[in-house]
Amino acid sequence: MNDEFRQRRERLMERVGHGVAIFRSAPVAVMHNDVEYPYRQDSDFLYLTGLNEPEAVAVLTPYHDKHRFILFIRPKNPDQEVWTGMRLSREEARDTFGADEVYLIADLDETLPQYLENADTIYYRFGRDNSFNGRVIKFWQQLMTSYPRRGRGPIAIRDTGVILHPLRMVKSEAEINLMCKAAAISVEAHKRACKKVKPGRYEYEVQAEIEYVFRQQGADGPAYPTIAASGSRGCILHYTDNSQRLQKNELLLIDAGCSYHSYNADITRTIPVSGKFTIEQKILYELVLEAQRQAISRIRPANSYTEISEIAVKVITEGLAELGLLTGEFEELIKGEQYKPFFMHRIGHWIGMDVHDVGIYQNGDSPQMFLPGNVLTVEPGIYIGPNIQPVEGQPEVDQRWRGIGIRIEDVVLVTPDGNEVLTAGLPKAVREIERR
Ligand code: GLY
Ligand code: MN
Ligand code: MN
Repeated sequence: MNDEFRQRRERLMERVGHGVAIFRSAPVAVMHNDVEYPYRQDSDFLYLTGLNEPEAVAVLTPYHDKHRFILFIRPKNPDQEVWTGMRLSREEARDTFGADEVYLIADLDETLPQYLENADTIYYRFGRDNSFNGRVIKFWQQLMTSYPRRGRGPIAIRDTGVILHPLRMVKSEAEINLMCKAAAISVEAHKRACKKVKPGRYEYEVQAEIEYVFRQQGADGPAYPTIAASGSRGCILHYTDNSQRLQKNELLLIDAGCSYHSYNADITRTIPVSGKFTIEQKILYELVLEAQRQAISRIRPANSYTEISEIAVKVITEGLAELGLLTGEFEELIKGEQYKPFFMHRIGHWIGMDVHDVGIYQNGDSPQMFLPGNVLTVEPGIYIGPNIQPVEGQPEVDQRWRGIGIRIEDVVLVTPDGNEVLTAGLPKAVREIERR
């Protein structure tokens, strides 16, 4: 794996040129009072270093003759190590992560400027840590003050994401393997949970079955808060209470995926609690499924995110119009986004080390074309909440449709000649989920 991290840094350094790139580790997140969440490294930082520790800074200086990759880390601290485990010494960190030089984080202010003064650009992504943002600006100001004496220095700060995220968008073979594993564990978790679904059980029991499999199979844990939403709660996009009892004739929307070695899966299935769809549920379910099928069938290099987005919107809009839930000219329904009260989110998102992964969806005036190695979710939905408000001029929604929330979501890898659905092992056809 060390080779992989080194290759990533080399590829980025080609883009950094005569600049210097600075990366800050993620802060520790507090659960309450003095209790902390398990540490999760910033994905850019992890992608380039493999170092999973807070209070660290990584610096890439491609033009430097000796130190092209520098780390700043926490000091060893025997008292703290009793509580939180061993920390690496500078020498150990150098060997483990392949750094050319390792300093203590306390020496950053004194040491970092010498690596910046001969660069022409500082690459840095301003993040939530305002105190660190301020330090970078201060380094820059100081170097600009002394610029006349040297006649060189970083005359610009540029965003790191612009050069790094295109690399992260195209997954390597090693990354794809981890994503396949995250997908496989998540599929197994959904399968186990589906078997337990029946009237009288609670949403949290479904969540528990899923998260049991995650840990039991060696995943880090949920990639995001698990959603087990029965009945009209399926229309709440980020429902996480998972507190209600499953009722006969309701649907259960399960949106759950695990993180495996920091790579994520994200799957949604919507299944009938009592094993059989009502007529209305089935009609809408098949419409969502068709929108997803058509969107996925168009995923290949030379097609674009915009294209799959448009086809899903088209299928859903046509379907809603056929059911009388929307009325008017098709072109007007699309242009006026009249479908939005029913389908209000995007068709999907890039997925990788972040669930909503980095990367652009539109390339200025041009569509962003798919590339082999891109991974995205495709997750159309129809949500008819009890109090749905159609766009003005559209008909009131009949009672029989209300309270139905459906989403179907899979993870799709773009391949050189098409795509591969990494979560295809989880059934979604009506006949498969009815008889489960
Ligand atoms: N579960 C988060 C999402 O579907 O985007
Ligand atoms: Mn998603
Ligand atoms: Mn999801």
